Amino acid sequence: MSPPQKLIIDTDPGQDDAVAILLALASPELDLLGITTVAGNVPLSLTQENARKICDLAGRQDMPVFAGADRPLARNLVTAEHVHGRTGLDGPELPDPVTPLQDRHAVDFLIETLRQEEAGSVTIAPVGPLTNIAMALRQAPDIAPRIGQIVLMGGGCFEGGNITPAAEFNIYVDPEAAAEVFAARIPIVMMPLDVTHKALTTTVRTQAIRGIGTRTAMAVADMLEFFERFDEEKYGSDGGPLHDPCTIAWMLRPDLFAGRQCNVEIETGSDLTMGMTVIDWWQVTDRPHNAFVVGDIDSDGFFDLVTERLARLP
Ligand code: RIB
Ligand code: CA
Repeated sequence: MSPPQKLIIDTDPGQDDAVAILLALASPELDLLGITTVAGNVPLSLTQENARKICDLAGRQDMPVFAGADRPLARNLVTAEHVHGRTGLDGPELPDPVTPLQDRHAVDFLIETLRQEEAGSVTIAPVGPLTNIAMALRQAPDIAPRIGQIVLMGGGCFEGGNITPAAEFNIYVDPEAAAEVFAARIPIVMMPLDVTHKALTTTVRTQAIRGIGTRTAMAVADMLEFFERFDEEKYGSDGGPLHDPCTIAWMLRPDLFAGRQCNVEIETGSDLTMGMTVIDWWQVTDRPHNAFVVGDIDSDGFFDLVTERLARLP
């Protein structure tokens, strides 16, 4: 077996973020170096606490968790309590966190880790607004060629937006940060709504997770049953889209996904389409490719993977 892939998850937990973190913690193919938190679904004070609660749930109080940006680069914070609940992790009753919050700022951890680790050996998986990543690139441009790849959840192509008709939440919250990350010439794998909306937490799938019977699985089932209600009401679907774990699943089983290299630009001027990811899927321009955009998923295979890995946790 090849050595574990080194990984940093940048996150705004978030029930779907929680499953992404747990999937990474349950997978020996991955070496999770640390979790950096950012304001997004809920304010930073809650996203950092939620990340620590998730580590507690997995029995990983050793996992370094860092607090990062408490607001976007250049605009006011927009949050999503209407989707994730007041705490951002509504559903299960989780105790106050034991996993400590590291003193270092998340951006400093990102920079120092990327400078210390072998160039190209670290994957960053942002599953929230891209503020921390953009701040790290601004503060230390030398780290850009040292990042192996960025596997991010964000944006939309034919699926449109979920926070405005044009924009997906993670990009919309900090479009300036997203524009700088997509312009940084770092290999990017992008999981937009087009693929995550095919990864629905149907009743059968959620029951399979609850049926594992462990404390982690029961808590995840409670999270999903809370989280999915918003999208079920909005789209009339059975279940809600399990967005963020698609990034981790890509690292474990890229064969579950399909996509193509595209040019992706971010709208940062128009109020009407602010945060829109303009994806040249049909290559009608000669703009350079800057992201592998994923459009399809084997959703049964994805949930089999998620369920099998969650069963490995306490
Ligand atoms: O639009 C979905 C994204 O926004 C997910 O990352 C979810 O956790 C929220 O952050
Ligand atoms: Ca998220």
